[in-house]
Amino acid sequence: MLNKLVWRKSDKQNRNLQERISDMTGEIVPKHIAIIMDGNGRWAKKRAMPRVAGHHEGMKNVRKITRAANRIGVQALTLYAFSTENWKRPKMEVEFLMRLPEEFLTSFLPELMELNIRIAMIGEMDSLPEHTQNAVKKAMKETEKNTGMVLNFALNYGSRSEIVSAVQQLVQKAQDGELTVEDITEDSISTHLMTSELPEPDLLIRTSGEIRLSNFMLWQLAYTEFWFTDTLWPDFDEHSLLDAVNDYQKRNRRYGGLKGE
Ligand code: IPE
Ligand code: IPE
Ligand code: MG
Repeated sequence: MLNKLVWRKSDKQNRNLQERISDMTGEIVPKHIAIIMDGNGRWAKKRAMPRVAGHHEGMKNVRKITRAANRIGVQALTLYAFSTENWKRPKMEVEFLMRLPEEFLTSFLPELMELNIRIAMIGEMDSLPEHTQNAVKKAMKETEKNTGMVLNFALNYGSRSEIVSAVQQLVQKAQDGELTVEDITEDSISTHLMTSELPEPDLLIRTSGEIRLSNFMLWQLAYTEFWFTDTLWPDFDEHSLLDAVNDYQKRNRRYGGLKGE
């Protein structure tokens, strides 16, 4: 009896999800969604579990949200997984986090291939542990010919250092006589950022109730729509994603002009 009830409930939820996804056909779907996946530690604490258990649950949720984003036709999904400031955390937590890409990418790879999803990464690859680098490089290589959604991990990513690096590259080129001061433009800065191959995010989501950017895509988010929720990342499900997208669809993006007025 209990099983039947549980089955009915989840069946109803699934049908609702299907309907919500079908309703989205023909609507404007953000081309690029960026998510600051926050709240894993608090999710675990609420359950008297160690913080790393929250990170593991958060990793499982990445699968769910990747599938959902892909189903609604998102072209790029950027997930903030580890910031340049997260090295300040206890060694044991950092080591655990650095194992997650390996576990995630190995177990999810067959499905990524089936879904035609390409893995990409932004952030400082060189200072990641070798096993983490190997896992990411392998997944990027194996999915490089996939032409569907780009699943882009921000790993050891910091926006300020990304901007500094773009400026350094431009100054170097100027010194080498490859470009002039006038060649340093918004476009040339954008093309020297790690996100150069992606469109700018249309929608930024941050979970867990924090209303800040924490050094994430400061340049790229200039005209992005923001959506904040108190939901902790491991609890952020397909319906939460659709709530954010539905809200995005009601926004009037003016870019400083008077469009839609
Ligand atoms: C987000 O969850 C994951 C990372 C930053 C790596 P947190 O670990 O920041 O979780 P809270 O914010 O402490 O709850
Ligand atoms: C931002 O979350 C980084 C990631 C989600 C990877 P943090 O939990 O590190 O951010 P702060 O410290 O609360 O600003
Ligand atoms: Mg946090």
